[in-house]
Amino acid sequence: MGRNKVTVIGAGNVGATTAQRLAEAGLADVVLVDIVDGLPQGKGLDLAEAAPVVRHDGAVRGTNDYAETAGSDIVVVTSGLARQPGMSRDDLLAKNAGIVRSVVEQAAAHSPDAILIIVTNPLDAMCHVAMQASGFPRERVIGMAGVLDSARFRTFIAEELGVSVVDTSAFVLGGHGDTMVPLPRYSTVAGIPITDLLPADRIQALVERTANGGAEIVALLKSGSAYYAPAASTFEMVDAILRDRKRVLPCAAYLQGEYGVDGLFVGVPVVLGERGMERVLEITLRDDERAAFERSAGAVRELVAKLDELAAVS
Ligand code: APR
Repeated sequence: MGRNKVTVIGAGNVGATTAQRLAEAGLADVVLVDIVDGLPQGKGLDLAEAAPVVRHDGAVRGTNDYAETAGSDIVVVTSGLARQPGMSRDDLLAKNAGIVRSVVEQAAAHSPDAILIIVTNPLDAMCHVAMQASGFPRERVIGMAGVLDSARFRTFIAEELGVSVVDTSAFVLGGHGDTMVPLPRYSTVAGIPITDLLPADRIQALVERTANGGAEIVALLKSGSAYYAPAASTFEMVDAILRDRKRVLPCAAYLQGEYGVDGLFVGVPVVLGERGMERVLEITLRDDERAAFERSAGAVRELVAKLDELAAVS
């Protein structure tokens, strides 16, 4: 059996950090791809030169050529633009849709059996683009959002209660955006629901901070957005798949009737294993939770409709 091969498209902050984590864990040989000449080659070489010191023997290589990505087990898509001053949300949507479509077409052509993990924002809409561009079945197109959102929620729960993050677990549903739906009754400290440990107003404050978690980092950094936690979250998904761990993680998955939603990527708990998104775990939602979930799914549906409109006029 040969080594696993993972391609990471986009050698920016999220992509390069993901490549570093994958290589250092010895999980796979990594091919880093970017459209900018020299950038993936430089970062790839720099990462390769860290290997003797870190003591891993995974290969890391940077390239602008998709031929070198051939036969990848997993392709992680982080390429895209950050929102620039003067750029509307629609401009960003159209630009990143174009980038994701183009990179996925090229990557899928060279790795027809790969599993795609999409990271580029707006996440749920970009998953749709990737599924269309690849023609892959839903098991092999998965969006990274829920792992990050629940990691943020866990960080805040642990900080609030003065307990280890390791003993926390958090449940987040819905789209990756300000309509996401953290579920406090399924968010626990060592199995104890946080609703038994914290008053409602404190929980609400943590939920709101979680929903604004990305914006909080952007406001601090001033240029650029979060990448350590996004890369760690992406790594966890790759690890679950390559090692067939059957991890239960919240991911953006293409729903076909689950949770009353059909034909839309929305964040739900799924089982990740060697076949990719192997199963959607369904829970019964309370009325208020269902309403919040439907609102969130509605926001994703609007974005996808906007994407179709933009595609029609371009
Ligand atoms: N093909 C390949 N790479 C591309 C392309 C393309 N067509 N277009 C842009 N890129 C590359 C850029 O050259 C850049 O190196 O994508 C990289 C993006 O890196 P950053 O700007 O550092 O952005 P990053 O912080 O990594 O975020 C990437 O992940 O979390 C999401 O919202 C975030 O959508 C954003 C994405």
